[in-house]
Amino acid sequence: MNTTMSLLGLLVLAAFSLAAAVTNAGEVKSCPGAPSMTVETACRKTSGTQAMYDLCKDALGGVPDPLSDHDATVYALAAAKGALASEDATVGAAIQLLTYNRSLSGEERDAYQECVEAYTTAEHAMGNVVNKLAACSFGGLADDYMNGLLGVESCRDHVIKLPASPLYAMVLVDRNKAGLALFLGKLLGI
Ligand SMILES: *[C@@H]1O[C@H](CO)[C@@H](O)[C@H](O)[C@H]1NC(C)=O
Repeated sequence: MNTTMSLLGLLVLAAFSLAAAVTNAGEVKSCPGAPSMTVETACRKTSGTQAMYDLCKDALGGVPDPLSDHDATVYALAAAKGALASEDATVGAAIQLLTYNRSLSGEERDAYQECVEAYTTAEHAMGNVVNKLAACSFGGLADDYMNGLLGVESCRDHVIKLPASPLYAMVLVDRNKAGLALFLGKLLGI
């Protein structure tokens, strides 16, 4: 096994353990001081565009009893987990390309490698968001959201320079999901 392969192996392992940690974080019902509202209200409040509203309704589609009021933490948590899962899939796709696609140009290889690194930061930050929301501990959340967004945007800035990349659309979706997560987090007054 060469160095690149071992590095990729470690990153895959890191991604899986992060996912496991997040799954064990538990569900919040309410946090002190958090506002309560319906899914519809949360999405109306946080979405400036129809596209963002649709993404919001989709992201919160799994919230049980959506017509009732819920603590906004529930929505922020669902969106953060959704963003994290989406980012996981993108890193998986990047690693897949790096590992198995021998037709990648040097430029593509460099960009995907940068993305895997940037997403390690992004996922760590979004993992912090999930854990803090689950613990009703909102300190430093704004920075975590921002670091999560910046990691995804750093990858986007590399991929956007490529002639055509199957990763580009995935990264844009991740960017929107991370943005939505932040907007929903702002309902908590962070
Ligand atoms: C492998 O990479 C090349 C160059 O980017 C691309 O055209 C091709 O679609 C990729 N193959 C697969 C199976 O993704």
